[in-house]
Amino acid sequence: MKKRTGRISYDYTNMLSPAVGTRHGVTPGELRAWKTRAETAAADVRRRHESGEMEFISLPSRMKTAREIAEFARRAKNDFDDFVVLGIGGSALGAAALHCALNPPYYNLMSVRRRMGYPRFFVEDNVDPVRIANLLEVVNPKRTLFNVITKSGGTAETLAALLTVCGMIRRKTGRNALPKHLVATTDGEKGNLREIVRREKLPSFEVPRGVGGRFSVLTPVGLVPAAMTGINVIQLLRGAAAMRARCIAADAGSNPALLSALLQFLACTKKGKTIQVMMPYSVQLYFLADWYRQLWAESLGKRFDLAGRTVNAGQTPVKALGATDQHSQIQLYAEGPNDKTITFLRVEKFGTDVEIPKGFDDLDGLSYLGGASFSELLNTELRGTEIALTKAKRPNSTFVFPAITPFTVGQFIFLLEMQTVFAGGLFRVNPFDQPGVEAGKIAAFALMGRRGFEKNLEEISALESRLPRKVV
Ligand code: PA5
Repeated sequence: MKKRTGRISYDYTNMLSPAVGTRHGVTPGELRAWKTRAETAAADVRRRHESGEMEFISLPSRMKTAREIAEFARRAKNDFDDFVVLGIGGSALGAAALHCALNPPYYNLMSVRRRMGYPRFFVEDNVDPVRIANLLEVVNPKRTLFNVITKSGGTAETLAALLTVCGMIRRKTGRNALPKHLVATTDGEKGNLREIVRREKLPSFEVPRGVGGRFSVLTPVGLVPAAMTGINVIQLLRGAAAMRARCIAADAGSNPALLSALLQFLACTKKGKTIQVMMPYSVQLYFLADWYRQLWAESLGKRFDLAGRTVNAGQTPVKALGATDQHSQIQLYAEGPNDKTITFLRVEKFGTDVEIPKGFDDLDGLSYLGGASFSELLNTELRGTEIALTKAKRPNSTFVFPAITPFTVGQFIFLLEMQTVFAGGLFRVNPFDQPGVEAGKIAAFALMGRRGFEKNLEEISALESRLPRKVV
């Protein structure tokens, strides 16, 4: 079993007024004034969880499920060269983030032996015809396991991919091959996919009731794909459980999720920081920023508050990558509109390090690099960016990973989920619905001619006839 390595810390010095001034930084007075409301929001989360709501908070305790999934993966891995996730949004982003964080960057190009016998890994989370056609060209259906993931069982993109893959499996490996090549993750009782599982006798996993898509990475939605590449899912849950213990604390001073929620909320509503950039200085953590983008955007971006008032709440999440985006975005972040907070992710000890060889020592532009390591350079660049942004009065904070392991990634995922729910309490919005997404889905169903959506199609046609297109 892999060793647990340390806990994630949160450095928020540069979110505060002593670092970036009172116009852009949260003042000690503001923190004091809002602390009680934050702690009330946290107490409310605890109370609702105890009364059976917010089931995602229980997920770190579901060790039995994690063990079953690890066992499933150990048995399945030798039968397949490739593993493909078919899902979208909350049913794909977590799997991609775990893979990116916890497997080597060129995992798919490594030998089977280096991959410890686990299959190559793909996520098909779009209906781009070129990509899906190319995927079906590069995987051999006889040696591929497809994991179709949809909680509702009604998502058009995922069902289109499922139909395509079912057709291919039947054509290339025989009519009865579906149960060997397709594993489903969906609601335990309801939806089209559950019906297909029953009809075709597919192996399946359940998304627990009461856990929404973007909060489902620690259910089979994220754990099955993770286990299929050998990620230690037990350690992932242990990390989440360790963070849960810290986030349940009522006191904002010792609860990193509550504190970060409060600081982002105050920065957004009192200091005009309507954008939050998450900027990992680690390629491995980049997709976690992508996963977080959905969590923060879809949970908090709401037209109405809990009392039904129009508020158009939310803070726009943006992802950037250090050091790459220093040469692309930092100019804007330092000198453009002061409307952002920057959240850095820093790794203290990378899984591997590379020493920069000495050479051309007589040239000042190169001599300081020789003998240093890549991790030293990367973290020094982070420090440089942090100093520059703070000098330019741009509020920023840093989550520090002692190392990137299943235990720390589990902590971080859980921290961000709790942060999002606490922020929902502060913004006074429902972080668990997504009414704005539904409208687009309904319009697409109508336009695709889905039965039952004829009235919606009429509405769209009426609207379009009133609005002749202006195109040059
Ligand atoms: O967070 C959410 O609820 C959404 O992003 C969903 O995950 C996404 O729409 C996919 O839904 P489903 O899993 O039902 O296919």
